[in-house]
Amino acid sequence: AGCAKMRLPSASRQAIPLSRLALVTVLCISLLSLILSIAPLHSQHPGGRLHFPGEISDRHGLGPIEPDPHLLSDRAAIFAGAEADHRLALATARLRRRLMSAAAEAGALRVNAQTSQAAFSRLLAAARYPAVFRSAALSPPGPDTGADLNNATVRSMRRRLRAMLRSAWRAYWRYARGANELRPIGGAPAGPGAGDADLLGGAARLGASAIDSLDSLWMAGLTEEFSAAAEWTLNELSFDQDATVSVFEMNIRFLGGLLSAYFLTGDRRFVAKATGLASRLLPAFATPSGLLRSLVNLRTGAAADHPWAPFGCSVLAEAGSLQLEFSLLSELTGDRVYADAARRARHAIGMAPRPYGGLYPNFVHSGRPDKLAVQEASLGSLGDSFYEYLLKEWLRTNGTDTESCRLFLDAARAIEHGGLLRRSTGSGKFLYLAPLKDGRPVDNRMEHLACFAGGLFALAANATPSCAAGGRQLDSERTRRRWLSIGVELTRTCREAYRRSAVGLGPEAFEFDNNVEAVAIRPEDKTHMLRPETVESYFHLWRITGDQRYRDWAWETVEALERYSRIVSTGGFAILSDVYSARPPVGDLQPSYFLAETLKYLYLIFSDRDYFSSAQWVFNTEGHPLPVRQT
Ligand SMILES: *[C@@H]1O[C@H](CO)[C@@H](O)[C@H](O)[C@H]1NC(C)=O
Ligand SMILES: *[C@@H]1O[C@H](CO)[C@@H](O)[C@H](O)[C@H]1NC(C)=O
Repeated sequence: AGCAKMRLPSASRQAIPLSRLALVTVLCISLLSLILSIAPLHSQHPGGRLHFPGEISDRHGLGPIEPDPHLLSDRAAIFAGAEADHRLALATARLRRRLMSAAAEAGALRVNAQTSQAAFSRLLAAARYPAVFRSAALSPPGPDTGADLNNATVRSMRRRLRAMLRSAWRAYWRYARGANELRPIGGAPAGPGAGDADLLGGAARLGASAIDSLDSLWMAGLTEEFSAAAEWTLNELSFDQDATVSVFEMNIRFLGGLLSAYFLTGDRRFVAKATGLASRLLPAFATPSGLLRSLVNLRTGAAADHPWAPFGCSVLAEAGSLQLEFSLLSELTGDRVYADAARRARHAIGMAPRPYGGLYPNFVHSGRPDKLAVQEASLGSLGDSFYEYLLKEWLRTNGTDTESCRLFLDAARAIEHGGLLRRSTGSGKFLYLAPLKDGRPVDNRMEHLACFAGGLFALAANATPSCAAGGRQLDSERTRRRWLSIGVELTRTCREAYRRSAVGLGPEAFEFDNNVEAVAIRPEDKTHMLRPETVESYFHLWRITGDQRYRDWAWETVEALERYSRIVSTGGFAILSDVYSARPPVGDLQPSYFLAETLKYLYLIFSDRDYFSSAQWVFNTEGHPLPVRQT
């Protein structure tokens, strides 16, 4: 019911101008008939003469009454005046009628133009995304639908996950509605300095958790909660705030969340909201190379770099993770400005020198992208989603964006052979990813952020659109098999980091040397941030391989989250500060990505494998599903 409420059919939207028009028409018609009802009375008389009260009085059989002579003397003058009044009234009525019909015509034309424009873009979108509209017409599955209908265990697991999502959502809604993130311990909004506040405008009330939750709530069939989030987004959220935000974060969380909500509901107001936001992000792209600067003020458009970044530099992962949302927004609005901005940024990145076997440097200078700014490359922070978006834009366009395909194939080769992918020397022989610094593989430390790569390689191995580059078919069967085994191995490594903790939840980063494997050593690495990357890889590998172990591992994570991370008093979930402690201290934050990604991927692992199938949907780097364009 919640979704039906959110879906605004075209008819009801046109009803607004039409009903206003109808009101004006009715008023005009009554005015006109008032005038006309007087006019015929006058013209009934032969010769168009007017009659006066005195002349009718013989109807009562009293005989003619002598008119007052002194009235008679004025009669001609009165007659002439009345005649003129009459003509004026008739002319006015005629004029009014003509004006009215012209206005009605203009109104109808305007309504038509609006309708046909909207209908045209809907048609365009529907032509490109018919499967989506069909699936959007389905109501979200409750906990008791899907292929696993007969497996009572899976059914009850899905119910547990649904309850977790509802609990995390309700805590946010009750204690931090409109704020970006929740402090789950005492139940309060997370203010400046907490979580990702610095990237989301400090104290700005942008409701990051609400936008990030929309599609998760919808997918889990929490329609009442979805309606509340959607009403708030459409009616109360304003992007006109004096807030300096990260273009990247606004893109992946907000544009991604709004566009995905549009495809679930068919409600164009989500597209309008997304367009309003995207146009506020565009000033960040005004650099000589088109490479965006990292931060922008939503109200003034003032752009800046991260204070911690090398001077004048943009971050690879941020500048290169826009294509999915910006291209889709251009397709939906017919305005190329967004797709062009993202493409120019990607081209600027393409100018960067790549000395390490084709790997891209983590920072690119927005004035001189062709100069090497830093000698660093990574599939963890700073680099990660750039590589992800090359693959996913290829998937989203169903293989039609051949540039994405070529870039991804080059990048995948560079990841495999450029020194990021390593094997531990201990007994576990784990495959892992660690960054390059000064061009050398110095740090044998894998970040949790890099754990998405297991899913990435599995997705690449399973990609249906074929891709050829340089005259050669690079995604051969052999490549696919190798990619899948890399995906399987990297995912096993990340799960190992979970397993070797005291609580069953992985640390922020873990190291490999002769003595330790997949264990955090530095104190700051021992936190668990409720991040999604490991369960995201479980999700893709479960779907692609059907191997029961991914469900088992996912369930271990669910139980650990319930046991260690849940705050009973508020119902929220908190980060942990030491996963090697049997009673880990909690940190006072429930990140918005926990609702957008972690709980969503877990829910989907215990749902029908065709639900939001990867043939039809691509998940952006914040877990928001965007439809594959029909080719
Ligand atoms: C039902 O699902 C559970 C949990 O994934 C699994 O362990 C079990 O083998 C499944 N049962 C059947 C009959 O498939
Ligand atoms: C993607 O392309 C393949 C063939 O190249 C086609 O079979 C498939 O239906 C397409 N998918 C969509 C969503 O259009």
